[in-house]
Amino acid sequence: MIEVKDVKKRYSSANMVVKGVSFTVKPGTIYGLLGPNGAGKTTLMQIMATLLKPTEGTVTICGRDASKDTLDIHRLIGFLTTEVKLDPLSTPNRLYDFFAALYDLPVEGHNERKTAAFERFGITPFADKRIVELSTGMKQKISICISLIHEPPVIIFDEPTNGLDILTSKQVTDYLKELAKNGRTIILSTHIFSLAESLCDEIGVLVDGQIVASGTSRELCELTGKDTFEETFFELYTKNHHE
Ligand SMILES: Nc1ncnc2c1ncn2[C@@H]1O[C@H](COP(=O)(O)OP(=O)(O)O)[C@@H](O)[C@H]1O
Ligand SMILES: [Mg+2]
Repeated sequence: MIEVKDVKKRYSSANMVVKGVSFTVKPGTIYGLLGPNGAGKTTLMQIMATLLKPTEGTVTICGRDASKDTLDIHRLIGFLTTEVKLDPLSTPNRLYDFFAALYDLPVEGHNERKTAAFERFGITPFADKRIVELSTGMKQKISICISLIHEPPVIIFDEPTNGLDILTSKQVTDYLKELAKNGRTIILSTHIFSLAESLCDEIGVLVDGQIVASGTSRELCELTGKDTFEETFFELYTKNHHE
């Protein structure tokens, strides 16, 4: 369970970039933060992952306060950021082993878990290649594998399908659906309205640091009176965005 309550964020003395955001994500569901570049998605994800402190408000994950219980939260979440860089000289095999050791995962079953994870994403043929030789999509799939290595109950993914082709993107979204079905709590951010529409149980439309509407894609269409979710998103954006 993720509970975000009236979160505000200001970087140094600049303007507020997150202006009082609240929402709850229940286990077994996928919540999507949908908004254009600059809306505040990454800032919110980083606050949830304890990497940034909110200026005001609280984030609670499985009952732990993200501003205080940072170590507990690190065990509870799988976090994927758009900024993560894999060591270019390492290999998928060595990175997987390194992170398994970092998380103190049991040695027993290690190779089986790695094989299953690599097979799922088609990483196996590239397992011993250097990261620098791999495609963007392959690197993204390796990042996803590693972010979930400790089987966390809560998954926080910032723009998980960025830079992926349509097939790789589908592999990732199918996997997220499966994880939700297994009871994980999932939040992802995206600027792609079709991804939010097809994947998320609830969508929060983020414009200029505020959630201007939330609900299922159908509920949001009813709210705006538009026929498609695409028109709904543009309507919500133009109505709420001020230069
Ligand atoms: N480290 C930072 N210092 C100052 N401003 C920042 C910093 N990171 C992001 N911002 C600003 O905060 C706003 C929201 O950015 P961000 O959270 O990255 O949005 P999104 O992920 O939706 O594109 C933008 O105006 C951005 O320029
Ligand atoms: Mg971002």
